[in-house]
Amino acid sequence: MNVLVTGGAGFIGSNLVRLLRRERPHWTVVNLDKLTYAGNAESLADLRDDKRHVFVRGDIADAELVASLLREHAIDAVFNLAAESHVDRSILGPGIFVETNVSGTQVMLDCARAEKVKRFVQISTDEVYGSLGATGRFTEASPLQPSSPYSASKAAADLLVLAYGHTYGMDVVVTRCSNNYGPYQFPEKLIPLMIANALEDKKLPVYGDGQQVRDWIHVEDHNRALLAALEEGRAGEVYNLGSDNEWPNLQIVGRLLEILGKGRDLIAHVQDRPGHDRRYAIDAAKAQRELGWSPRIAFADGLASTVDWYVKNRGWWERVRTGEYRTFYERNYGAR
Ligand code: NAD
Ligand code: TYD
Repeated sequence: MNVLVTGGAGFIGSNLVRLLRRERPHWTVVNLDKLTYAGNAESLADLRDDKRHVFVRGDIADAELVASLLREHAIDAVFNLAAESHVDRSILGPGIFVETNVSGTQVMLDCARAEKVKRFVQISTDEVYGSLGATGRFTEASPLQPSSPYSASKAAADLLVLAYGHTYGMDVVVTRCSNNYGPYQFPEKLIPLMIANALEDKKLPVYGDGQQVRDWIHVEDHNRALLAALEEGRAGEVYNLGSDNEWPNLQIVGRLLEILGKGRDLIAHVQDRPGHDRRYAIDAAKAQRELGWSPRIAFADGLASTVDWYVKNRGWWERVRTGEYRTFYERNYGAR
């Protein structure tokens, strides 16, 4: 089996490539990544001498490149993870989100169809469903009501993928996962940002009252579900993925400070994110039932091991916090 992972130098993708090499050692994994600010070849350092991991730097919107990779490596299946992934960046500049997440996915679909790829797995997000009130959970039947340019671009991509299944009879599967955490996550997202800032004794910028709720899953549990979706999922289906683990942001930040032995005086409530979704919660019963999958990592353990990873891999996040990231940080937090 030969699989193409796009976005495999990012957070979830680099962990997925590693999981696939470990769990399916006879497969070849081709990894296509543009190495944007979020892509980091350093996250793949341990795979450098692995003959069954082929890294290619390039854009998913480059049809010629994608078609040649699918052909050259006789790709059987695609995991499409490449995306612009940060809500705050999508608020500052939505254009690239449409280019990569929507047009890029459409190019991937055209190429996969032309080259008769056997299965196309689209990695999506619970954010396509919009925001919940105090109760209830998203099911696959919940209406799509994305509220940020990021989630709108992901919803558009989902609909294209499902339409290609419907119209051309392509074998497609869409997964919609809740918020991930774990090693190699870019420190612009809540958990790694707060860990890195706390380790540097910088303020922890909590948006608004910090009572927004997210449903957290360890990246390893998400990636095991992606493998199960490829192997066990039904064509044309959507699978919600989550680990039944809801937390208000402020409580997570407090917990991280406790683990790191730092004081709560580092917390700074800053101006809220425009259009901020109040609550996400995922009902993953369908995935559990049909994919033979269930999450394994308890939040307390996952959070502790993630903090430990950031403590031990300070060089990794210190290097990515230079350059372009500083400019973004100033733009996003400077005016708050
Ligand atoms: P990330 O930002 O860490 O990584 C994205 C990767 O895609 C980077 O390596 C980047 O270089 C690459 N990329 C961006 N544009 C590209 C292009 N045009 N061509 C090729 N490569 C390109 O993101 P992540 O958190 O790892 O998310 C991966 C996927 O999972 C995304 O599709 C995201 O929408 C989805 N997802 C993420 C979460 C989460 O909590 N992080 C939850 C659910 C779904
Ligand atoms: P984030 O990690 O950006 O994921 P998403 O917005 O895709 O869920 O944010 C998670 C939550 O943390 C979200 O409610 C916004 C909040 N947040 C802060 O309060 N401060 C921050 O600096 C960041 C990045 C996020």
